[in-house]
Amino acid sequence: MAFSLEPVTPALGAVVHGVDLSKKLDNSTFSGIWDAFNKHSVLVFPDQHITPEQHIAFSSRFGELMEHVLREDLLEGHPEIYIISNKKKPDGGRLGRPEAGWYWHTDLSYENTPSVASHMYALEVPSSGGDTMFASSAAAYDGLSEPMKKLVDGLTAEHDFRHAYDTFIKPRGGAPISDAVFEARPPVVHPMVRTHPDTGRRSLYVNEGFTRKIMGMHRDESRALLDFLYRHSTRSEYVLRHRWSQYDFVMWDNRGTQHCALGDYNEDRLMYRTTMAGDIIE
Ligand code: SIN
Repeated sequence: MAFSLEPVTPALGAVVHGVDLSKKLDNSTFSGIWDAFNKHSVLVFPDQHITPEQHIAFSSRFGELMEHVLREDLLEGHPEIYIISNKKKPDGGRLGRPEAGWYWHTDLSYENTPSVASHMYALEVPSSGGDTMFASSAAAYDGLSEPMKKLVDGLTAEHDFRHAYDTFIKPRGGAPISDAVFEARPPVVHPMVRTHPDTGRRSLYVNEGFTRKIMGMHRDESRALLDFLYRHSTRSEYVLRHRWSQYDFVMWDNRGTQHCALGDYNEDRLMYRTTMAGDIIE
């Protein structure tokens, strides 16, 4: 299948034309997409008409699929798909997680083996709002001074699923998450800079959602450095803002990006997301 790429910004993002994800891609098309993914970090496939089975089949080629910790938000019969939505079921219950990712984060950085990539399919989108912003953590690392690189290269930080809920979701009256979920996910520690296994690029690995503190630093030192890194990592030149169209399929690389969903809409929004398992970060 011949396809073409339309880069979105120099830092990240490309639109892929000429690929039909409802079909099994031949190996050479798949390897072209894999190369484009490593180069651009975020790929947008417009106007895809796929079933949950086809979504899962495509995602599975990128790695083992993870089941999200918020089990009540998984698609019935397809627990590999996490539903992100403000819609209600006919019985009035939630259809999916309404406030997923309304803060800068990298998916599942609170896991010991955080996710490699995420694939999200837009089934329903508001007429405006509900955009997702992506930032290149590799470009952000490249943009640091040499002394700052030296400092962060040697540091580790704690990531905690509960931190995002306590800081961003609970204060906005978001859907509750039980203590049992948090207890099953104790905090983990990762290096603050990681090396992309396929490209060798270094990138910052802290995010305002899940990173609680820098290990070994005083509280105020940790706060000041994290605040600086969050501001720096989300400078406009590192960021792509994706305005969703219905049937967009977007994949992003969790080994070199972070993202933030905007909760600025009232109309229906329904997304299906898969995440691929990764390894311990060296
Ligand atoms: C997420 O994966 O964090 C959700 C992104 C979105 O809903 O736009």
